[in-house]
Formats: sequence, C-alpha cells, structure tokens
Amino acid sequence: MTDTSERKITIEQHKRFSESALWRLQREYFDKEGPNAWVNQVPFYITSNPFIAHCYAVIVFTFMNDWVKKHPDAKNNTFYIMELGTGPGRFSYYFVKSLEELRAAHGVTDIKYCYVMSDFTKHNIKYWEEHTALKPYIEKGLIDYALFDMETERPITLIRQNLRLTPEILVNPLTVFANYIFDTVSHDAFTVHEGKTYELLFSLSTDEKNMENNRPVDMEQIVVDYNVHEAKPNYYGDPLLDPIIENYKKQLTSTSFLFPVGSFNALKLLRKLSNNKLLVISTDKGYSTVEQLDHLGHPSISFHGSFSMMVNFHAIGEYFKNCGGDAVLQTPRKGIRTSVFASGFHLKDLPETWHEIEERVERFSPSDYFTLHGRMRDSYQQVTDIDIIAAHMEFSRWDPHIYLKVSGHLISLLPQADGETLEFMSKNMPRLAENYYFMPKTECILFEIGVFFHAIKNFADALHYYQQALKYVGEQFGLYYNMALCQHHLEKNEDALATFKHALTLDPESKETAEWITFMEKTIAGTIEEKDIK
Ligand SMILES: C[S@@+](CC[C@H](N)C(=O)[O-])C[C@H]1O[C@@H](n2cnc3c(N)ncnc32)[C@H](O)[C@@H]1O
Repeated sequence: MTDTSERKITIEQHKRFSESALWRLQREYFDKEGPNAWVNQVPFYITSNPFIAHCYAVIVFTFMNDWVKKHPDAKNNTFYIMELGTGPGRFSYYFVKSLEELRAAHGVTDIKYCYVMSDFTKHNIKYWEEHTALKPYIEKGLIDYALFDMETERPITLIRQNLRLTPEILVNPLTVFANYIFDTVSHDAFTVHEGKTYELLFSLSTDEKNMENNRPVDMEQIVVDYNVHEAKPNYYGDPLLDPIIENYKKQLTSTSFLFPVGSFNALKLLRKLSNNKLLVISTDKGYSTVEQLDHLGHPSISFHGSFSMMVNFHAIGEYFKNCGGDAVLQTPRKGIRTSVFASGFHLKDLPETWHEIEERVERFSPSDYFTLHGRMRDSYQQVTDIDIIAAHMEFSRWDPHIYLKVSGHLISLLPQADGETLEFMSKNMPRLAENYYFMPKTECILFEIGVFFHAIKNFADALHYYQQALKYVGEQFGLYYNMALCQHHLEKNEDALATFKHALTLDPESKETAEWITFMEKTIAGTIEEKDIK
C-alpha cells in the first residue's frame, strides 16, 4: 500500500473487477453484520414484501401444477425451491405463507415441495433457525436451509434433513430465487469502443483516516478509478459465455458493461445439480436490452453499507438461451425489474405458467407495486380519508412494514372514520398480525394492532394483541399500562389492579398509574365515591 502526499492510500491498482478487493470487503461486511445489515443500512423492503412474495408464489404454484400435468411421475419427487443470498428471511416467510394459502385454496396436497433458504454467512442461518415466524414451516419440513456461497463450488447440504442436493435428489426442476443478489457477487467489467472489447481494470483508494488494520472502514469513502486493457478473444474459454461478449462487440457502439461472472459460476453449478432443469426468478435493478447497455459510462457503484450495481439481466438472458432455455425480461421500468429464466425447457410449453409470468412480471409487477407504494409512503400524512389508507393496506396485502409507518397518522384519523372502513380494517387486523416477521430494532406490529382496537374501544381485541406483543416488547411500561386499562374496561378489575401495579414497577414516577391503583383498590373494595369516578 502506498502513502501519497495527499494522504490517500492506494488499496489496489489495475485489478480485473472480479478480483477486486471490493468483493472481499462486501463479504466481510455481510458476514460481520449478519441480520443487522438490514437495520437502516442495506435496503431490503423492495424485495421483501408480501406483494412480491405472492407474485412469486403464484408463478411457482402454477409451475409445479403445470409440470405435474406434463410429467405425472413428478409427484413422486419433491420440488426444491432455493433462495440465494436470502438475507433476513422475510421474503421466504411471505413466499411460503402465500404458497401454503394457494395450495389450501386449490386443494393441492399431493405435490411435495421444500423451500431452501440459503446464504453464505452462518449468522443469517442462525437467525432463521431461531425465528418464531419460520418455526412452524421448518417443523413441518416445508422450509430447510443451507450454507451456500455462490462464489465457491461446494456441495449444498440441507441442514435440517442432512440431505445433500444432487442430481439424484433434484429429479424435478430446481426453482431458484435470486433477489438483490446477482449484483452482490463478483462481476467482470468491459468496455466496447470502435469495434474492440477492453477489460476494465479497477484501482481503489481512500483517505488514510478511513483505514484501520490495513482495510478501509467505510466503503462509502472508497474512490474507484478505471483503466482499460484490450480483452483477449474467448475471454472465458466457455462456449456459453464467450458468444455473449463477442455479440456485444458487434451490437454495442461505445459503452461499458458488467458481466456477472460470479453468478454464472453459481448457475453453472445449479444447472449441473438439477440435470439442467432450472427455473430462476430474479428481481433487481438492471438492464434488459442491448439498447439499454449502450452509451453507458463506467459502472456506477452505489455504496450503502454494502454496495450494489445494475444487473446485466440481458447477459443472464443470453446465457439461459445458450443453455437451451429461455428468458422473460420485464420491459423497462424505472426502478427494479423482475426476470424469469429457464434452462433445459421452454416456458411457453407450460401455458398456465406462461400466463402467470405475463400477469405478474410483465403486467402489474413488483416494480409497479413499489412505485405506487412509494407515493403513499412519502405522502401519507396528507391523506385525510382513512379509507384510502385502508385500501393501501389491502393493496400491500396487509404489510406490517407499511402499517408501522402510518399507524400514528391513522390513529389520529380514527375519530372521523366511517363504520364500513373500521369494520374492513378490524376484519383484516389478523392478516396484519400473521404477516409479522420480527426484525431487530423495529416496532412491534402486535402492539400497534392493540392500539388500533384500543382506540376504537374494542378492549377485548386490544387486550388480546397487547398480550401477544408481550413476548416481543417485554417489560415496557406503556404496554402494561394499556393492558390494565383494557382489563378495567372489560371489568376485570382484579387483573387490572395487578397489571397497574406491575406498570408502576416499570415507571415508579407515573402519577396516573398510582391514581389508577387507588381507584382500582376502592372499586374492588366497593368504597368508590362520586368524586373518584374516572
Ligand atoms: C443485498 S442482500 C439481499 C438479501 C435479500 N435477498 C433481499 O432481497 O433483500 C445480499 C445477501 O446475499 C448474501 N451474500 C453475499 N455474498 C454472497 C455469496 N457469495 N453467496 C451467497 N450469498 C451471499 C448476503 O449475506 C446477503 O444476505
């Protein structure tokens, strides 16, 4: 490492992108942070909400049915659905929940499946293993998990069943979900100019103050510089990859593009394990056409705890076509987009699956959902009609993440709410509660549901949800105080007294609680006077 007069430290010089230290730093970041990566650092809502999970569930449910119709013996074997770089597991929970609901609604019981959550870091696996929302599915054998590092070719073993995924086990096609992960594993980068292809070489530097133990502390302070070097022909020596680069040389005028080589290595392994029968669904920010790939500057890397880039979905689509499969790339959207890839079979041969892909990916998609949701997220405080918030909750499939944002405002609107909307909301509160997926350092939705019922004077339901919240919120004054109020309104005064007393231990300064205790004691003893009535 070289110390320059500007006190800049050179971290590396002229490195092929896939060999850059950035990837190591990114891995170290995810490994160190584990589930904490999602506490206000790495954005995740966009790919971890009930809407996107339901879209995927409908496609996969239809795919398994379609496949069994064509191959009746497929019922004898399990369909494995593997999520790469799973992260917090919230998507996994909503997916399996939706899939189970679809199976129940359609009476499908004879198609076996197992959802495999995977990540390269053990810290995430430990989090899933202990997660109360996942537990029922894990215990039923519907969810298993595996350590899988997309950058290394190692056997994949399902930890619960101690079962190695092999071509003999993966008789049915393997479904793979890759949300917000193709941009996280290593890429190469190329430049095309005047009919020639160059590899892009990366140099990284940072301020000396940003270095500790020979490594940068804050990735956001890394400066990236680029050099070019003419790329050798048949760069990868791989007949599935080299034609893609070769075609870009002919099709692109002047641009730089990324090539997701780490993801290609992982896909190669998964194709081998699944007898080249893969269905892949991926959502990320990315480019889907040659036109979008042209006239771009050097790759822009956005740092946010970790870093992310635009995925070259077009190249991934070409790869799948080269594997004898096909690719459905969502037409341009400004934000994220969803792509579906198949290897070893053609999606159009599965007509109902094809129809659902059209409906859920090309028409109203996770991307469109997120764009519309963004409008509400940014302006809900201006909404004065509670039925609009209620409709947005339905649109989101009763997503706690959204309710937690709007709950304060919504409670303030309750006094003017109409009866129908209140009934609609009350009826759907159990759905909101079922969608609770605990994440570190976030508010508890069960408590907020309690507040909703409390505000509309449905004390029985309020108490029910407050009690449910106990195991998440713990010894918190406000929770006990609210529970005691509900108990009193339900004429459970002995319980209310005990709960107020407990609340007072949590906040001995609370005068109101002390007054309530006196009032409860008098009520129970039958010595209450007119002046004591609250
Ligand atoms: C940006 S997060 C995406 C998480 C989740 N899929 C989502 O949509 O929010 C990337 C995830 O990939 C994991 N990851 C990073 N490098 C990986 C690798 N080489 N193999 C497998 N997982 C990896 C990280 O631990 C993290 O959970």
